Parts: sequence; structure tokens; C-alpha cells
Amino acid sequence: MEDVLSRFRLDGKAALITGASRGIGLGLAEALAAAGADVALCSRSRGVLEHQSGRISAETGRRAVPLPADLASADEARRVVQEVVEAFGRLDILINNAGINLRKPSVDYTEEDWDRVMDLNIRTPFFVAQAAARAMLRTGGGSIINIASLLTFMGRGTVPAYAAAKGGIGQLTKSLAVEWAAAGIRVNAIAPGFISTEMTVPLREDESFNRWVVERTPMRRWGESRDLAGATVFLASEASAFVTGQIPPLTAAGWRVDRLWKSRWKRHVTGGELRPVQLLGVPSTQWTWQEA
Ligand SMILES: NC(=O)c1ccc[n+]([C@@H]2O[C@H](COP(=O)([O-])OP(=O)(O)OC[C@H]3O[C@@H](n4cnc5c(N)ncnc54)[C@H](OP(=O)(O)O)[C@@H]3O)[C@@H](O)[C@H]2O)c1
Repeated sequence: MEDVLSRFRLDGKAALITGASRGIGLGLAEALAAAGADVALCSRSRGVLEHQSGRISAETGRRAVPLPADLASADEARRVVQEVVEAFGRLDILINNAGINLRKPSVDYTEEDWDRVMDLNIRTPFFVAQAAARAMLRTGGGSIINIASLLTFMGRGTVPAYAAAKGGIGQLTKSLAVEWAAAGIRVNAIAPGFISTEMTVPLREDESFNRWVVERTPMRRWGESRDLAGATVFLASEASAFVTGQIPPLTAAGWRVDRLWKSRWKRHVTGGELRPVQLLGVPSTQWTWQEA
């Protein structure tokens, strides 16, 4: 019988992770190395990358190299991919993760604001993926994982460029998946829910926003980078050989299913608007209903 867990292993694979100096990118670089891949860590912070790649290498026994670059430039993105191939002789996995957000009323957005967010969050990811695909074609294929967002699917105020870019990442994922499947390159994305990183510090410091996130999330907490690791290793590995063009929302269940408190339950049942789903052994105060 086939050892199914061996299909999740990434031994002998080479991975590039953009935005790997901290947060989600760093967590995913650690996860891929722990699963057996050699990893190249890219961001603008040379010193941090040197430290983190040395630590990952020492802890996992895999090769880890720092690749400092400003990915606002597509030329830099192409150079980085070339350096990964020079370092490891191949590129099998790309995590297209580097990103920024600018929260500002849409009426105040300047062209420069718009371009800065769009360049890093949608323009460069295409050119990194293009360069990666050219390298993957030489070795028979690979796996590209774009980092999307809940804003790939839904709208929120004060983030017009971020939402447009993340919506675009979803369509780019599906489009490249269709085009490159026959060449053995799978293209998927993950859409993290609210994850505790530097990007979300202002959100967590906002008491009412923080409460709103925690109350809407079934696990009643913010996600951590490690919450994204399992799905990413799955999508990077042979275990997902028949999966492409998918964008699973992760730690985002609270945005599809909500807890129904007794008062809301009564109101909704009386109004006949919603169909409750009673969970076995869960007290009636915590019954849930399907929102979507
Ligand atoms: N946190 C969340 O709740 C959440 C939810 C959904 C999606 N995401 C997405 O997940 C990704 C990572 O977010 P995060 O929360 O981990 O953010 P973060 O902690 O702010 O990390 C962003 C990473 O991007 C790098 N970066 C920024 N500008 C760059 C540039 N010009 N060139 C190269 N690298 C650059 C940063 O490194 P340097 O500063 O060293 O360059 C850093 O490593 C983003 O695409 C974000 O949109 C996050």
C-alpha cells in the first residue's frame, strides 16, 4: 500500500518564498524546509534574511539562502528567480507572498499610493510566476502558490488597491492554472483569514476591530502563520497532484459560518429567515447556522 504521508514530503525540491523576512512568508519558509525542501528567502532586509536562513538551515538541515531584493521591480523579480536556479540548480515551488497594504479613504488615494500597492501585490507576482514557470518548464513542472486574501472574495472599505490586487490574484491563479496545467505546473492560492503579523498590528490594536475579528472566527482567535503551513505543504507537494486553480480560504470559516446566540436564534426562528444546524452535544446557546 502506498505510504500517503510520503507524498507530502518535499525532499529534493527547491522553493522560493517572497516576503520571507517575517510573518506569513517566514512561517511558510520554515514549513517547507521542515518538510524537506531547500528554501530561498527573499525580501528587502538582507540582515534579517541572513539570520533567518542560517537559523532555518541549522534547525532543519536543509539549504537556505538569503536573496535580498526590492520586488517593486519586475527586473529584480527575474534576477531573484535566476539566483535561486543558480543556487539550487532548479526551482520546484514558488510562494508568491510579498505584499503591502495601505489603508486610506479611497477619495484620498493618490496615483502613487495605487501604483505602490498594485506593483508589489499583483504586477510583480505575475512576473515572478512567469520567471518561475520558465525555470519549472526545464525540469518538468512545479507548484506555484499565490497568497490571496479574504479580500479576493469580499469587499471592505479603505483598501481599494489591496482589494483590487487580491481579487486579481484570484483570477491570475485560475488563469495561469488553466494555461500551465498541461506543462505540469500547478497554480493555486491560499486565502488567509486574519493572521497575527506586522501587517495587521493596527487592526489588532483597534479594540473594536479586534473584537469583531475574534467574535466572527469560530476558533475565537487570530490565526498564526503556522495555521497556514499544512495547506501550503499539501499544495506544494505531490499529495495535491490533481489540484490546480484552487483558492482555499484558511482560518476563515467564521466568515461563512457564525455562532447563533439564543436571542438571535429566537429572533431568526420567529422571523423564519434562517435554518439552524444543531451540532451534536453543543448546548442550544451555541447552535450554529449556515450564513452562506
Ligand atoms: N496578515 C494577514 O492577516 C493576511 C491576510 C491575508 C493575506 N495576507 C497576505 O499575506 C502576505 C504576507 O503578509 P504578512 O501579514 O506576513 O505581512 P508582513 O508581516 O508585513 O510581511 C510582508 C513581507 O513582505 C516583504 N516585502 C514588503 N515589501 C517588499 C518589497 N518591496 N520587496 C520585497 N519584499 C517586500 C516584507 O519584507 P521586507 O520588509 O524585509 O522587505 C515582509 O517579509 C501578503 O501578501 C498579504 O497581503 C495577510
